[in-house]
Amino acid sequence: MFLEFLATVIVYAHVTYSNDMGIPNWPISGARERELLEEVLASDRWGGHHPIVNRFEREFAALQHCRFGLAAMNGTVTLEMALEALGIGEGDEVIVPAISFISSATAVSRVGGTPVFVDIEPDTFNIDPERVCEAIGPRTRAIMPVHFGGPMANMDALVEIANAHGIPMIEDAAHAQGSEWNGRRAGSFGAFGSFSFQNGMVVTAGEGGILLSNDEALIDRAREILDSGRRKGEGWFFHYTLGTNYRITALQCAVLIAQLERLPEQNCRRMRNVTAIRKELADVPGLHFQRVPDAARVHTNYLLLGWVDGDRGAFHRSLTAAGFPCTPFYPHTLYENPLYHERHNCHVMPCPNAEERITDAFWIPHRALLGDELETQELASAIRTAADW
Ligand SMILES: Cc1ncc(COP(=O)(O)O)c(C=O)c1O
Repeated sequence: MFLEFLATVIVYAHVTYSNDMGIPNWPISGARERELLEEVLASDRWGGHHPIVNRFEREFAALQHCRFGLAAMNGTVTLEMALEALGIGEGDEVIVPAISFISSATAVSRVGGTPVFVDIEPDTFNIDPERVCEAIGPRTRAIMPVHFGGPMANMDALVEIANAHGIPMIEDAAHAQGSEWNGRRAGSFGAFGSFSFQNGMVVTAGEGGILLSNDEALIDRAREILDSGRRKGEGWFFHYTLGTNYRITALQCAVLIAQLERLPEQNCRRMRNVTAIRKELADVPGLHFQRVPDAARVHTNYLLLGWVDGDRGAFHRSLTAAGFPCTPFYPHTLYENPLYHERHNCHVMPCPNAEERITDAFWIPHRALLGDELETQELASAIRTAADW
């Protein structure tokens, strides 16, 4: 009990609050971030070739049960590098879910490929493996599931499909730092796992990303792209690949190492609070939370996701008026973005589930799930009031 209290004091030493409901502002930082930043600042290498970058790559890869890590500028270029390292380009199709952040699709388009949008499962919000099967054709070169909101997509089914067709999988694990499928961590199932550390993620340096793999040749290929075409062990001014500069900075990695130290406690805290909220609200008619398969029960709770049978606008207004953050989901499926609306640069499979969730889903961000017991109770009460149709 005392240790738990002490951990809380240490972890929250530098927390500020956005309102009187006790919802912490995000990101959270403390003495540890400053200490590691000072270490880098005192050195003569603030950029991507400081040893702290490799240290972070090793630590994060180990956390996610992977052998190799490649830290980068953000979680969008990591997807692009993964696709490029797999040789995906002009005329190649990549299967992506209809619901995600835009990078899931634009990464494919930017390397010259064609995103093929497939439906999600209506209750897990994750890509539906059966729909993936239907979308596979002679030009399919990769499957790119997203572990949406934290719980992992169905890895048993997706790995089987990928293996059966000899198609690599790239896990977009931007939301899944610490998430598991039957005890094995996100990013370790596919050819690559891609993570984001942008400002809103559960581990953040404001911006940042990492690519993980168990295949050394693949990670080396991605590293050449990231580091101006340089090759391991070769000279500084020798460039072998048409690469670019996607390097992360040492300053970001200093912050990220400190953030990683906070992650286990924060993941546990969110899990405890979300379990309490879901239990408390199980009897509310017309209110549904994301279904989390048993295999995926350990996850980040990056978003508390759900959908309502009643008036979503009124639900959202009630929660925000009570001082709790809530977003009435994405305004459209990925393929309804202006970029893909004309359909000349993508393929769209039937996506009735995604289209339905666009109309009725909501999310509550992870910072609202870090409160103490009383604040969590207040959040649950506010959700109950908002769902009183
Ligand atoms: C599922 C998903 N993939 C990729 C990204 C892109 O990450 P970044 O903002 O670091 O480029 C995001 C960002 O929100 C995301 O949610």
